[in-house]
Amino acid sequence: MRAVQVTEFGPPSGLTVAEVPDPEPGPGEVVVEVAAAGVNFPDILVVEGTYQNLPERPFSPGKEAAGTVVAVGEGVERLTVGQRVLTLVEYGAFTERLLVPEELVVEIPDAISFEEAAAFGLVYSTAHFGLVRRARLRAGEWVLVTGAGGGVGSAGVQLAKALGARVIALARDEERAELARAQGADVALISDVTTLRDDLLRVTDGHGVDVTLEMVGGDVFSQIVRATAWEGRVVIVGFAAGTQNPIKPGHLLVKNIAVLGLQSSDYRDRTPALMRSTMEEMLQLYVEGRLTIPVDAVFPLSKTGDALQAVKDGGIKGKLVIVPERS
Ligand SMILES: NC(=O)c1ccc[n+]([C@@H]2O[C@H](COP(=O)([O-])OP(=O)(O)OC[C@H]3O[C@@H](n4cnc5c(N)ncnc54)[C@H](OP(=O)(O)O)[C@@H]3O)[C@@H](O)[C@H]2O)c1
Repeated sequence: MRAVQVTEFGPPSGLTVAEVPDPEPGPGEVVVEVAAAGVNFPDILVVEGTYQNLPERPFSPGKEAAGTVVAVGEGVERLTVGQRVLTLVEYGAFTERLLVPEELVVEIPDAISFEEAAAFGLVYSTAHFGLVRRARLRAGEWVLVTGAGGGVGSAGVQLAKALGARVIALARDEERAELARAQGADVALISDVTTLRDDLLRVTDGHGVDVTLEMVGGDVFSQIVRATAWEGRVVIVGFAAGTQNPIKPGHLLVKNIAVLGLQSSDYRDRTPALMRSTMEEMLQLYVEGRLTIPVDAVFPLSKTGDALQAVKDGGIKGKLVIVPERS
């Protein structure tokens, strides 16, 4: 079978596609024939060698895939050959067939296409664990989602709305602000760090933001801490702007603010059953029409490097998906 390979860390243009042995399932494992794999910002960090978890090279990148179960190993009881599934993995999804532990596989409803399912898992599980598990979001609270035009951001806006929050989306241009409104944001602001704190206090009538899903970092993060409400929670999800600003403990102390870290893959690895039930809950919201997953473009496996570069360059409206070419 064919799989994308990282042989040396570097720019996405250095990715190659190689012939590798077909996987055989061991006890508790299944093989998924990949119909589509989602592209995520962390894939770029993995390929460039700057991500926190890096496997031995050569390896295939890619953190999520959807497809059909084609083989099951000894002791696998929950899954059978022919089932449509999605799976979240640390790496390896940019391939034709993916070997994965049964516990990381979730059955998907017929209503969701493989392309959408492949783009669904990582962004929605990240948004859910950030809002629900870390921030303990309550209905009626003000939620700010930064990087709202991106994958996790767009999932965060929709999920926060579905959970009954009042949602503020922070975007970089009017087109993305409009997209956020269409996805349910009550307010969409264009990012300007010099006025951000005042804008957030104004749109919340002086209350401040209760919960932030923070994807951008740098000065944006610092201004958000200052616009956070009493007993507010700021969940650090990423640093898309490329810098991490220090936290001033005094800003936290005066309003009983909590700044929380999030590494959603930890829930996949440490609590796979919780990850599965969380995914099932969100797939149900998808079936009810309360969540969407806009797929912006589909790339063949041989063009995975181009897809990652496009995400790095910015300006994607929704998610990119890789589809293996079948002969
Ligand atoms: N902690 C976790 O478990 C976890 C899981 C998944 C992702 N992440 C992280 O979360 C972040 C977002 O991931 P994603 O998959 O949603 O990425 P994405 O789809 O590429 O979206 C990134 C977003 O950040 C915005 N952005 C980029 N540079 C910016 C800047 N200098 N100032 C303001 N906004 C900027 C982009 O704006 P435009 O739309 O205008 O381009 C876009 O909305 C990344 O840092 C990623 O590593 C963390």
